[in-house]
Amino acid sequence: MAMTFVPSTSSSFRPTLIRCANSNERRALFSRIAPVYDNLNDLLSLGQHRIWKRMAVSWTGAKMGDRVLDVCCGSGDLSFLLSDQVGSHGKVIGLDFSKDQLLFASSRQESLSKNCFTNIEWVEGDALDLPFSDGWFDAITMGYGLRNVVDKQKAMQEIFRVLKTGSTVSILDFNKSNELLTSAFTEWMIDNIVVPVATGYGLSEEYRYLKSSIREFLTGKELEKLALEVGFSAARHYEIGGGLMGCLVAKR
Ligand SMILES: C[S@@+](CC[C@H](N)C(=O)[O-])C[C@H]1O[C@@H](n2cnc3c(N)ncnc32)[C@H](O)[C@@H]1O
Repeated sequence: MAMTFVPSTSSSFRPTLIRCANSNERRALFSRIAPVYDNLNDLLSLGQHRIWKRMAVSWTGAKMGDRVLDVCCGSGDLSFLLSDQVGSHGKVIGLDFSKDQLLFASSRQESLSKNCFTNIEWVEGDALDLPFSDGWFDAITMGYGLRNVVDKQKAMQEIFRVLKTGSTVSILDFNKSNELLTSAFTEWMIDNIVVPVATGYGLSEEYRYLKSSIREFLTGKELEKLALEVGFSAARHYEIGGGLMGCLVAKR
């Protein structure tokens, strides 16, 4: 099994602003979700999340032979796409703080036959304290991770630190829209589709958390501002999926 467990730095975890009281609770939440996470994603997005993830990866500009990082990799969707993009001479690190999510990612890697997927290594670690040297990566992705970390500025600083100058991070997540209609539609979807479907999997509470986490998240403009504040030279937020999703693309 291609998996490296880097000791986690749980002592540096901070109190949260939203429903889960701390990083340990968030880690437990994602571990509970792990067994059904992929099925639910397909069901709830009608498969669209695969397209959004492809867009996020292509916006990184990752090339053959690159060394790339997928922060908050979960069960590894973005890591697998990056693996294809950088080829067998490249290297992908998928990092997450949930061992259960990493075990799923690793088992998916074993069941997928593509040779290039052998270029992925799974690392247990904290997005707020990345276990890598400065300027180590040619490109970085983060899918549905930034909304879930307890300190978004610290996570952005860490991404900035481990990214090479001139390289790009692509951060995909729900879009916290300024449009009343779009945000009302997102909340309607969560209450009437996401939570009822998740309830069928015994995960109603876990998915109710989604609504508050989007409310507490940053708008596209605020994400661009945050990226520039931590030092990125350029930042642009793209609304995708009819405005339900967004992708922040920032260049170091
Ligand atoms: C919603 S999942 C997204 C998984 C995957 N990137 C995707 O797009 O399908 C969020 C992931 O972030 C991870 N996570 C949250 N906070 C983290 C942190 N501080 N450090 C590392 N991983 C974290 C969770 O364990 C979970 O696997």
